[in-house]
Amino acid sequence: MQNRRKAIEELKNSIDKDKLPLHVAIIMDGNGRWTKQRFMPRSAGHKEGMERVKEIVESASNIGVKYLSLYAFSTENWKRPKEEIDGLMKLLVYYLRVELNNLNKNNIKINTLGDISKLPVGPRREVEKAVELTKNNNKMVLNIALNYGGRNEILKGIKSILNDIEKGKINIEDLDESVFSDYLYTSGQPDPDLLIRPSGELRLSNFLLYQIAYTEFWFSNIYWPDFREEHFLKAIIDYQKRERRFGGI
Ligand code: IPE
Ligand code: IPE
Ligand code: MG
Repeated sequence: MQNRRKAIEELKNSIDKDKLPLHVAIIMDGNGRWTKQRFMPRSAGHKEGMERVKEIVESASNIGVKYLSLYAFSTENWKRPKEEIDGLMKLLVYYLRVELNNLNKNNIKINTLGDISKLPVGPRREVEKAVELTKNNNKMVLNIALNYGGRNEILKGIKSILNDIEKGKINIEDLDESVFSDYLYTSGQPDPDLLIRPSGELRLSNFLLYQIAYTEFWFSNIYWPDFREEHFLKAIIDYQKRERRFGGI
């Protein structure tokens, strides 16, 4: 334990504060496989995964990340057994009940990505309460992606734009990348600098498709319930060694 704290301190010290990623996105994956290794029910993996959410949110905010986007439930995750979906929704409520005051005290603003109107009413109310309570906070924005799908988000944006064009609110000629961004759930936010996906899968699974055009990817075989602060810091240190060219030379 003592050694672990020391290792974490050393990692923190090797982070270049002037080159911090402003926005980090994480696909929290591998909860199921983590439990399979341990002959436990899948729900136990989601529960342990929630502990990692607390740990990584705290770490991100402490080192000065300004936006943290966590993929918690995708538009495709409705395909899972009802029991598992109910369990995930319960965990969301539990997380917010336990952590909300703490998040608020730490000046963290909670924001959602995705169509939360489709969530069961209990979890939806809990989320809305959290968003309302923390709306004026400004240390870090915590984007929780719930019933989120990148394609769905882009289509929703296109529909709203067509609506606004029809109403004369905007002209087609004025529609550019920056205007389009404002029709996405991440409106007003910078694109992710770094995307972390643990669990060994090398795919985006419909996360932030539009925003991720120039994001740096960091993949790892670690399952999310095993993804600790030291791995998060390591991902940031690796990110800082990359040369981002954005198409230039
Ligand atoms: C991520 O873990 C949690 C959610 C998608 C909600 P998984 O449940 O996908 O875990 P694996 O991929 O089956 O290991
Ligand atoms: C991505 O994980 C969604 C979340 C982490 C919420 P999945 O486990 O659903 O992705 P696939 O099915 O492996 O692509
Ligand atoms: Mg998965």
